Amino acid sequence: MRKKIIAANWKMNMTVAEAGAFLDVFLVELGDANSAEVVIVPPFTALSHVSERLAKTEQAKLGAQNMHWEKNGAFTGEISAQMLRELYVRYVVLGHSERRSLFGETDEVVNRKVRAALEASLRPIVCIGETLEERDSGRVEAVLEKQIAGSLAGLSAAELSHVVLAYEPVWAIGTGRTASPAQAQEAHAFIRKQLSVHWDSSVSEKVRIQYGGSVKPQNAAELLHQHDIDGALVGGASLEPRGFAEIVKAAHRLD
Ligand code: PGA
Repeated sequence: MRKKIIAANWKMNMTVAEAGAFLDVFLVELGDANSAEVVIVPPFTALSHVSERLAKTEQAKLGAQNMHWEKNGAFTGEISAQMLRELYVRYVVLGHSERRSLFGETDEVVNRKVRAALEASLRPIVCIGETLEERDSGRVEAVLEKQIAGSLAGLSAAELSHVVLAYEPVWAIGTGRTASPAQAQEAHAFIRKQLSVHWDSSVSEKVRIQYGGSVKPQNAAELLHQHDIDGALVGGASLEPRGFAEIVKAAHRLD
């Protein structure tokens, strides 16, 4: 049984003060009984504060939004896996569509980061997904296949088992337009099949695949109910502590 994983991708939102206020409400709302894994992914500037707060509880783990593949050096503005580990970061989101489209990240770049993260014992959350144009021209599977092969190239089955994938159709991110549960399930099943083709079925059954793209308290349960959807990567709706707690509870209720 794959444990559901629900992550709050705060993107470039939340000051330290705002992050503290969020946790004040969220951790109380969430309570103790929770079978889903929760990951809070703040901007770099709030990592330290959120880390200290989460050190006192099992309710949620810490994630980062990006990292560089080198260990250190002359890379102005970048952050290494080691720096994240020092703050007790456990997960790192890699290859988000905003990184790919706004900051030029290719599958090759994502692959370097994935390998560096695994080497440092960080668990990558690797984002893949098609644009609207790619969907409309019937290229969803080709795009996903290329992103999987490129972003995860060279990983052993053991390494792959530590990776979380996030299927995020670009047209559903921040648009209020969610993939239907059937559309999402179809893509997730395809992704899992690709993992079994490139690696093997025992690891493909273990890898967790999150859905991302306008997940809200109102649609979370139905999406999370799908056989191959193992969690959610939540952007906009993760900024509101009560709503985000509701999404986590929707996952919890399914177990
Ligand atoms: P959204 O973002 O929930 O605001 O659509 C999801 C994401 O980009 O991870």
